[in-house]
Amino acid sequence: MPTTLITGTSRGLGLEFVRQYAAAGWTVLACARQPTASVELAALAASHSSKVRLLTLDVGDHAAIERTARELDSMPIDVLLNSAGIMGSGSFATEGVAFGRFGHSDFADWERVFRINVIAPMKMAEVFLGHVASSEQKKIVTLTSMLGSVALNRIGGLYAYRASKAAVNAMMKSMAIDLAKSHGIAATAIHPGWVRTDLGGPRADIDAPQSVSGMREVIAALDLSRVGRYWVYDGSEMPW
Ligand SMILES: NC(=O)c1ccc[n+]([C@@H]2O[C@H](COP(=O)([O-])OP(=O)(O)OC[C@H]3O[C@@H](n4cnc5c(N)ncnc54)[C@H](OP(=O)(O)O)[C@@H]3O)[C@@H](O)[C@H]2O)c1
Repeated sequence: MPTTLITGTSRGLGLEFVRQYAAAGWTVLACARQPTASVELAALAASHSSKVRLLTLDVGDHAAIERTARELDSMPIDVLLNSAGIMGSGSFATEGVAFGRFGHSDFADWERVFRINVIAPMKMAEVFLGHVASSEQKKIVTLTSMLGSVALNRIGGLYAYRASKAAVNAMMKSMAIDLAKSHGIAATAIHPGWVRTDLGGPRADIDAPQSVSGMREVIAALDLSRVGRYWVYDGSEMPW
């Protein structure tokens, strides 16, 4: 069975990815800042002990990313899945469009958002390139957001988060072009929908199991003819 390495698995979509891939019999390398502090993740690891391996990883820590790659030695990784992400201080779920307003920028917060949402997936891809290239499926997936679509931005606001997701889209597009040619790797960005997690809030449209089962289908269908596009969890395409 294939192997996936997933970041940000303590809760939300990352945790649900662990649950679904483990149930499907995959080997899951579940990365989290404090894996054993998540009761649900620890329970999943206990119930799938031969399939789910917990790894301590803060994706903002580049030395830790390199250390994790060394620990895994030459283990092939079929799907490298960057799920960890942050909105920055404040909350879209509770503040709506008042969150991230013009004139209220906290630039230390901007730097944190870019470090986790943009730089971390880039670092992960560079460090784990060999693991992915040596696998059967050869896929790199980063969770982006509809809020990163420049074409669909009609209400403004949400500066740091929008900018980070637009940046990660640009990055995944370049990666799709470059890695398809150099290594036969399919790289893409997927919007999970508006999902009821801590980040999405309770008023969101769909739950994590629906979003993740849709994204798993998109990932399963991903091949070199479908890279460089901006997918939605339901298989539709989003304008950049
Ligand atoms: N939910 C939505 O509606 C929605 C919509 C569009 C896009 N997305 C994207 O989907 C992805 C997952 O979101 P979610 O809804 O699952 O969010 P969430 O419920 O807030 O979970 C975020 C996850 O990221 C982890 N994380 C944060 N900073 C990290 C770091 N420095 N190192 C490692 N892990 C870190 C968190 O771990 P800790 O527990 O340690 O904090 C947590 O596991 C994000 O990239 C988000 O932007 C979500």
